[in-house]
Amino acid sequence: MNYRHAYHAGNFADVLKHATLVGLLEALTVKQTPLCYYDTHAGSGSYELAGPQARATGEAASGIRPLLEAQQLPSSLHVYLNLVRSLNSTPNAGGVLSTYPGSPLIAASMLRENDRLVLSELQSDEAAALRDLFATDSRVGVHKRNGYEALPAMLPPPERRGLVLMDPPFEAQGEEFDTILTCLQKSYARWPTGVYALWYPIKLHETVARFHRKFEATGIPKVLVAELCLHADDTALRLNGCGMLLINPPYRFEKTLESILQSLAHHLKQGRYGRTTVRWLSGEQKGPPGLRPKRPGPHPRSTKR
Ligand SMILES: C[S@@+](CC[C@H](N)C(=O)[O-])C[C@H]1O[C@@H](n2cnc3c(N)ncnc32)[C@H](O)[C@@H]1O
Repeated sequence: MNYRHAYHAGNFADVLKHATLVGLLEALTVKQTPLCYYDTHAGSGSYELAGPQARATGEAASGIRPLLEAQQLPSSLHVYLNLVRSLNSTPNAGGVLSTYPGSPLIAASMLRENDRLVLSELQSDEAAALRDLFATDSRVGVHKRNGYEALPAMLPPPERRGLVLMDPPFEAQGEEFDTILTCLQKSYARWPTGVYALWYPIKLHETVARFHRKFEATGIPKVLVAELCLHADDTALRLNGCGMLLINPPYRFEKTLESILQSLAHHLKQGRYGRTTVRWLSGEQKGPPGLRPKRPGPHPRSTKR
């Protein structure tokens, strides 16, 4: 395995994933009852933007950095950006970010005393860094383990409420989608009420379309996808865009996603190209949220015909 997230921390893919994560956790923590957060591909939890790896690619320059300068953002993005600022070791040091938080640190900052975090990470040094980061946080369990195997084995959580973030490196390219599908099907069978959020890359349109078709065929009933493309999706060589696939998203979360995506496309697009999509992949609400059939009234049987 060669993938090192330190090269990509704070890029536009992280921004979409972490803004979505923040929106989901905001919605899920409205209820007081405890919840469990699973991160199947957790990374090291925090990244040095001034370090040699991040500087070698400079990807944050077209992700988190311009967004921090942006005006007129939807409220979910404000929450995310304030979190990034507050988790920085040197906040407001001339407006320059020195560190970028990973998904486990973002989640740990938003979760409450009675919530739990279960983090899987396969690479020894990344898992060791995670353990150090959360050494004094008794809510957090770090597992140096294959997240695809660990997740279904650990479900359902005793809390019965919670969120799974799946953020694979996609080193196996198209084949990774099949591994994900198998893992999500197994996990959903064990915990059908959990909220699941998968991040995926968009390189070739057909690879993603095939994955969506296979996902629809599983019959999992409530699946929302949101995609942000900054380049035309016709080359396998670069990350043209990325998407989030959500199972059981919170009520009206499609509205939150629409505002996040429109704002990200506006602030992060580099040329003239920028495409966003939010649509139901499966279930009663299939199709673009705006075109959904109206729900029947609360007592349809009592209405006069
Ligand atoms: C995209 S990074 C994760 C970034 C992190 N979720 C975040 O948002 O900050 C993917 C991570 O998955 C790890 N990884 C790769 N294959 C894995 C597997 N099968 N199980 C668990 N972790 C894996 C890699 O070492 C890498 O740290």
